[in-house]
Amino acid sequence: MSAILEGKAAVVTGGGRGIGKGHCLQLAKNGAMVVVNDIDLEEAEKVVAEIKELGAKATACKADITSIEGAETLVAHCVKEFGKIDIMVNNAGIAKDRTFMKMTIDEFDAVMNVHVRGTFCCAQAAAKSMKETGTEGVIINTASAAQFGNFGQTNYSAAKGAITSMTFTMAMELSRYGIRVNAVSPAGTTRMSDTFKGADGKLHKMPFIDPELNGPMLAYICSDEGKYITGQVFGIGANRVWLLDHPKYSVGMLKDGGWSLEDIKKNFKKAIGNRLESLGIQKAPYPYYDGVKAKPKKS
Ligand SMILES: NC(=O)c1ccc[n+]([C@@H]2O[C@H](COP(=O)([O-])OP(=O)(O)OC[C@H]3O[C@@H](n4cnc5c(N)ncnc54)[C@H](O)[C@@H]3O)[C@@H](O)[C@H]2O)c1
Repeated sequence: MSAILEGKAAVVTGGGRGIGKGHCLQLAKNGAMVVVNDIDLEEAEKVVAEIKELGAKATACKADITSIEGAETLVAHCVKEFGKIDIMVNNAGIAKDRTFMKMTIDEFDAVMNVHVRGTFCCAQAAAKSMKETGTEGVIINTASAAQFGNFGQTNYSAAKGAITSMTFTMAMELSRYGIRVNAVSPAGTTRMSDTFKGADGKLHKMPFIDPELNGPMLAYICSDEGKYITGQVFGIGANRVWLLDHPKYSVGMLKDGGWSLEDIKKNFKKAIGNRLESLGIQKAPYPYYDGVKAKPKKS
């Protein structure tokens, strides 16, 4: 029996360590040929060596994923080495956590640049190549539960929300070429996860999660068995495979001719206002029914 990704050519951005490295190893173990992209070429080359040890094909490429030219260079590298591109995994990422009031615009831009711009550039370069060669390929973007809101991560949660929404739109537009677009919200103990802090601002040491555990579901989505899956976001890694609900309107009020302020004052609280959504990853009950009140200033 041949491996599920036999003959497929894949690119993984940020494949030099952490979750990206796990993706590269799993794609290779399942038959794919892999281009390991990373800004840190030395780490990418170590992953290439590990894949070659397994008897699979791999090559490293440091091209800049945050520019169209760099993304095109990366895709061209894959086509030159392996004849085409079937799978583009937009995984590279950085975190620059700080509470909103203290976050600098440079910290905001840096995170948006790698995650959002990097995903846009690489997805577009891959899709153009797939369209040109008639390859019915797949693009995997990387989301995070941080998009629900996470203390100290205005930049990162904005980036992940943008990536999730981009995934929906790209999936709608690219299906006509047979190209699928999905996102994964992974989990793993990595250099980045070691920087995650709780709402108390303290580092939270999580139990070890093998980053390679994200790979099997990734391989399944990328395989021909996953040919019907597009526009979806999956929470994967550790012991999980979750489907994320798409954002949608829930409870509401409708009135012919529209709502006057008086009508809203009369109806809003009992129809909607008593069912406000909880905030953040932990999904604690909505805590502000008594009002959003400033904390007393420290004297
Ligand atoms: N670790 C987790 O639990 C977790 C949870 C949710 C989402 N994620 C996401 O998974 C992805 C991987 O994160 P990780 O935890 O493995 O982090 P990591 O820091 O261990 O690895 C990220 C890799 O990306 C590379 N990189 C950074 N900027 C780059 C650039 N401009 N071009 C190419 N490569 C670049 C880094 O050199 C590094 O090798 C990220 O998108 C992250 O947001 C991780």
